[in-house]
This record gives sequence, structure tokens and C-alpha cells, in this order.
Amino acid sequence: MVLGSAAGGGVPQWNCRCRVCSLAWAGDPRVARRTQSSLAVSADGEQWMLVNCAPEVLAQIGAAPALQPRWQAGRRGRDSPIGAVLVTNGDVDHVAGLLSLRESQPFDLYATPEIHAALRQSRIFDVLAEERVRRLPLAFEHPLEPLPGLEVRVFPVPGKAALYLEGPAPEIGALGEATVGLELRAGSRSLFYVPGCARLDAALAERLRGAPALLFDGTLWDDREMIEAGLGVKTGRRMGHMPIAGEGGSLEAFAELEIERKVFVHVNNSNPILIEDSPERAAVAAAGWDVARDGLEIRP
Ligand code: MLT
Ligand code: MN
Ligand code: ZN
Repeated sequence: MVLGSAAGGGVPQWNCRCRVCSLAWAGDPRVARRTQSSLAVSADGEQWMLVNCAPEVLAQIGAAPALQPRWQAGRRGRDSPIGAVLVTNGDVDHVAGLLSLRESQPFDLYATPEIHAALRQSRIFDVLAEERVRRLPLAFEHPLEPLPGLEVRVFPVPGKAALYLEGPAPEIGALGEATVGLELRAGSRSLFYVPGCARLDAALAERLRGAPALLFDGTLWDDREMIEAGLGVKTGRRMGHMPIAGEGGSLEAFAELEIERKVFVHVNNSNPILIEDSPERAAVAAAGWDVARDGLEIRP
């Protein structure tokens, strides 16, 4: 279940009057409101893992009955079907919601050692007391089973350190622990999730070839769209996100990979594919891509 389909900032973003946000502020039916980037996954519909934890996590839980405390005769007190949370990088849009999951609820928190170290440096995350929230490491290529029947394989993706962790000259597209992708499997059903990707290298392309389903980084349509709209000074690639259009963009990169279901997630509010009757939306649809909305359920 896609809980939040937008990139950092959401749609509309609190301070934005770009073309997409202006339509969303006006309530235009061509642009759906979207919260920030997160999924909930389950093998059995009973126990759930959040993959990334957006600032809007409480509203996302409020909109998803399957994630709410369950009623059981004779039982009172606290309960949650969310038994695990996994984060794929340290972005604010992917970790800030952890602060809302305090309140004495046990769950397992999975991240790479590098991201765990970053969370440990920010003492505010100590609200997740270690007695209840186990912090468990993600290791590449060692499948783990965070919930019964749900298998997760983690792999490095060309990425970038989170903005607040960048040094003076951040390396873009490095393969490491800063940005990971996932293969989620339940029985014979599987799904790839890659919400941030600086470029599609040969190894990643081969891994994804022929996949039954993929949720992929749809941050920007054009590498320079934020600069051209006067919203920022960085290209998409500088932010660690390959664009959809143009040379080396995802429409081109995925054209021959024969993936059955392709869905863009982590879509930035500047991206014209969010306008339902735009030529850019028509172009991604013609190339076989869906654009996720909050609440989209996928059963591969
Ligand atoms: C990103 O995906 O590039 C980040 O979420 C940007 C940000 O921190 O706003
Ligand atoms: Mn992000
Ligand atoms: Zn905007």
C-alpha cells in the first residue's frame, strides 16, 4: 500500500506556488493531494511493516484501517499491527515520522549501519527507547524476514547522503549504505522498491529486468525543472534523483527491461506528471508507467 506518493515537501508543499501546487491549493481535480514518501507492506494483511516513515505517518495511519489498533474482546490498552519499520535512506521525508511512533510501542527498526549511526547522532530519536524499539541492521544480499512470511532483500542503489548529512563535496551516485533498494517477497509474489536513484547502472538494470512490479523514483520529470521554475538551484541529479525524461532518464532506461507493472513514487510537487491531463502524464502512461496516489494498493 502506498501511504505517501510524494517526494519531500508533499503536494501541495506548504510554501509553494508552482504550477502543480497552485492547482492543488485551488482544489483542481486534476491534481490529487499527496503526502510524503512511504509504503506499508504485508504478506498476510494482519501484520504490517512501514517502509519509510513520513512526517505525515499519523494521518497515513488514520486513512488506512489495516494499520490501526485492532479491537479484541477483553483486551484494552495499546496495540498496533505495525511490527516493523524499515528506512531506505536518511531523508527527512523518510525518517521524521519515527518521532510520532513513540508512546511505548514495541517494533523493530531496520536501517543500514550508516543510517542507524546518523539516527543515533540526532538525540531526538532517543524517544524510541531501545528497550522497546530494537534497531536492527540491514545487510546487503542477506534476506531477512521482518514479519512472518515477508522476505526482504536489500541492495545498494546509486544515491547520495541525505541533504543534512552532506559534506562540502557530496559524492553523487555512489553505491553504499546511504541509499538502498528493496526486493519484497511473499511466497511467489514480489515487488521492487527504489524510491531514490541517481542513475540506472548496469547491475541495477539487470536486477530489475523482468520484475513483476516496480515502484521507482519519480522525483522530477526534467533534470532542470526546479531551476527553471525558480524553485531551487539544483538539478535532480545533484539531488540524487535521475529524471524521468531526457537522455539517461527513466523512460529511456527502463524501455527494454520488460517490467510488468511500473509505478512512479516519491514524485516531487514540481513534476508535471502530477497533472492528470498533462502531456507529460500522457508520455509516462504511453511508456507503461502509472503514477502512484496515496492509498494505491498493489498485489503483485
Ligand atoms: C530528496 O529526496 O532528495 C530529499 O527528500 C530532499 C529533501 O530532503 O527535501
Ligand atoms: Mn526524499
Ligand atoms: Zn510546488
